[in-house]
Order: sequence, then structure tokens, then C-alpha cells
Amino acid sequence: MRVIIEKNYDELARWAARHVVETIKAFHPTAEKPFVLGLPTGSSPIGMYAEIVKAVKAGEVSFKHVLTFNMDEYVGLPEAHPESYHSFMARNLFDHIDCPKENIHILNGNAEDLEAECAHYEEMIAEAGGIDLFIGGIGPDGHIAFNEPFSSLNSRTRVKTLTTDTRIANSRFFGGDMNAVPATALTVGVGTVMAAREVMILCNGHSKARALQAAIEGPVTQAWTISALQTHQHGIIVCDESATDEL
Ligand code: GLP
Repeated sequence: MRVIIEKNYDELARWAARHVVETIKAFHPTAEKPFVLGLPTGSSPIGMYAEIVKAVKAGEVSFKHVLTFNMDEYVGLPEAHPESYHSFMARNLFDHIDCPKENIHILNGNAEDLEAECAHYEEMIAEAGGIDLFIGGIGPDGHIAFNEPFSSLNSRTRVKTLTTDTRIANSRFFGGDMNAVPATALTVGVGTVMAAREVMILCNGHSKARALQAAIEGPVTQAWTISALQTHQHGIIVCDESATDEL
């Protein structure tokens, strides 16, 4: 596992965006063999997305032949709700780049049959040839996507009940009201993320310091689902200095 420590959030965002741009360019994606990218939401990737948008606008990279699969989505939140992950992705990335609509995949948290939706998502990833680069954030309790503590490290896309801690952490996006945060979500599994050819996790700020310590120095354990990254051949954690406080 590579650990990249950048001075601050802006530099972390630039490093991560550069890595994405260079990896896509080195792949030479075509209509026959598109590049498959796994994408996160949350505040951590916002700076990286802004840098990617700049690179696309500067003509440095194109998303015409990039397929994307988002990590997760709340259950029961209307797609048009400003805090749905559909809205988040449109606002921060897809409205500003040349990625064709049909290349974008985000779990439908309003599907009639949620389990079928999850199974179909895994099938689509497999049909695309697997994910080349999965980017993720990390929760203060070490969760990746919505794989809360004690999720199986082999888990696949499924419905997950959110912990109270996660609902409290995410209430900042819902006017501070934890009860406004949906109680369940659809999420790719730890196994889905780890099956990607490369995984890059973004980790910034002191509130993530314990999670970063568990990710790097702790044992591989379901208690900190991020720790599964230690078993990946091509895992990268990009963090800022304040996230390293407990190392
Ligand atoms: C949510 C998302 C995760 C994300 C986490 C951290 O729980 N499902 O994918 O990593 O929030 O969010 P933030 O980057 O805002 O700290």
C-alpha cells in the first residue's frame, strides 16, 4: 500500500486529480475498451473533482470513453433531492465534463426491488470488465462507501443500515438533523471495491486520524473496513498532514 502525505487539502486534491488524469491517459480508452472508474461522494473528493473538471476543460483528458460506477446512494431519497448522490455527482462532476450520460452508473435508491438493483449493479460492473480505478473516501469510523464497521470484507453490493454515527456525521448535509438522513443506503461492498485493479482512498482532516491509523497500522479487521486495503496489491491512500496525527 502506498501512502501519499500532502501538506493540506488543496494539495491532496491536486495529487489525486493528477493521478486520475494520468491513469486515464495512460490507458488510452476507446469505445471498444473504455476505462472503468469507481467514484465516491462526500466532502473529501470535492476538490479532486474540481481539478478533474479543470483538466477536462483544458482539453488534457476526456471522459468520452470512461464508464463510471458510483459507490453508493441513499434509499428513498428522491433523485432530485440536493443531497442525493445523483445530485451531488451532477453538481460536482458530470454537469461539467464530457462523460456521456449512458456511461454513468449510480445505484437507484428508489428501485422497487432493491436487492435486484444491487445484483444488477454487480452484473454491469462485471460486464464492463471490472473496475480499473476505484476512488473512495473514508468515514471517521473507517467505513468505505457505506460499509459500516463489521461489514464483511468480502461483501458485495447490497442494502445497508446506516449506523447512528454515520447519520450524525452526515447530518451536516441535512440541516444538522440526523433524522432527515435516510436510515438505509445501497452500497458496493468491500469486496466490490477491493476487486478493482487499483484503489485510491482520500483521507483528510483530524477527524479521520483514528481511521487512518487503523487503515495503516492496525490489523486487517471488519471493525475498520478500510483496513482491507492492506491486502490490495495496488492500494493508495492520499492524505493530508492533519489526518496523520495518530500515526
Ligand atoms: C459517506 C459516504 C462515504 C464517504 C463518507 C465520508 O458516508 N458514503 O463514501 O467516504 O461519507 O464523507 P466525507 O468525505 O464527507 O468525510
